[in-house]
Amino acid sequence: MTMQVTSMMKRFGETEVLRGIDLNVRDGELIALLGPSGSGKTTLLKIIAGLDWPDAGSLSVDGEDWLRVRAQDRRTGFVFQHYALFPHMKVRDNIAFGLNVMPKDRRPPAAKIAAKVDELLQFLQIAHLGGRYPAELSGGQRQRVALGRALAIGPKVLLLDEPFGALDAAIRRDLRRWLRDVHDKTGTTTIFVTHDQEEAFELADRVVVMGAGRIEQVGTADEIFDHPASPFVARFLGATVELPVILRAGRAEAPGLDASMLERRALPDGFATLFLRPAEIDLQRDDASPFRIRQITSTGALRRVMLDGTGIVLEAELPRQRGADPLKVGDHVRLRPDAGRIFPGAARKAPPAPIPLKKETHR
Ligand SMILES: Nc1ncnc2c1ncn2[C@@H]1O[C@H](COP(=O)(O)OP(=O)(O)O)[C@@H](O)[C@H]1O
Ligand SMILES: [Mg+2]
Repeated sequence: MTMQVTSMMKRFGETEVLRGIDLNVRDGELIALLGPSGSGKTTLLKIIAGLDWPDAGSLSVDGEDWLRVRAQDRRTGFVFQHYALFPHMKVRDNIAFGLNVMPKDRRPPAAKIAAKVDELLQFLQIAHLGGRYPAELSGGQRQRVALGRALAIGPKVLLLDEPFGALDAAIRRDLRRWLRDVHDKTGTTTIFVTHDQEEAFELADRVVVMGAGRIEQVGTADEIFDHPASPFVARFLGATVELPVILRAGRAEAPGLDASMLERRALPDGFATLFLRPAEIDLQRDDASPFRIRQITSTGALRRVMLDGTGIVLEAELPRQRGADPLKVGDHVRLRPDAGRIFPGAARKAPPAPIPLKKETHR
């Protein structure tokens, strides 16, 4: 199926929750909606499922106006973060539920339903769980069953709202691979909602970054990671350092900044902001630089260096040095980023309060 969402708006009272969403979903793709809590992801998914309605805009699936189609006639499969399976029903019956409640004229015969459930139990690698009750399952097993229930009706589209959000990191990673595999075998068009960047990037063919009711960017993981389209996306993807710079002939200039590793940008001269991830910043001792090391901590593999100067505090993450002359608290250093993103205009974030000079905590 293909889906077009056009100029979709939704407000709850005074709050504009969707502020003009335009999105095309391609047949058979796994698309992730990625955004912070409150950005409107669940609202959009509920509108697609028919559990809520927009104030304006359209939703078209295979050319049909879905805003005129009742939820039960849309054939969507929905899995929520805490989708309570029916506790009094065994796994088999939970999976069969959507088929068992079909109107008589469309409901497959009981033997067909049983065969379908068997097939799904095998396919989802939960054959051994068919006779258990939900209370006898782990969180990860429950979500596999929930997906089985969603798939049983042969949905046109799978809508997954943070389905792994309540699980441990290691189980989430397993389920991610499992889901990708299930998707590749079924080819069911899938919309996966998450606020976890790694999850979105690892799973999805395309990622849709949402912020405050708008789509900020649509692209592959690499496109979004390397070329965030806005300061919002840059910040959301870990560029926590915002350095005010002046652009001259496409080159960023600031006291204490060595921008020689950065490409020139086709941007007009003037004030701009350079967005950096801590891991992109190399530090080189330079007594003329205004940046001074205030604190160094070690994570084992990395050294986290807090700096201040020119009214800003920032963090760099370096591989742990083994050399004879490591950087020390109090040293002046210049910043030598090997990647970065520049947006015109002044930095929006207020500089954080300076932290007191401390003894080096790294041993
Ligand atoms: N039924 C509702 N009534 C009032 N406000 C709501 C309702 N549902 C969601 N909201 C608000 O809409 C915004 C977006 O919510 P949601 O779509 O759940 O975002 P997300 O899933 O990205 O966290 C939030 O500010 C939330 O408080
Ligand atoms: Mg949500």
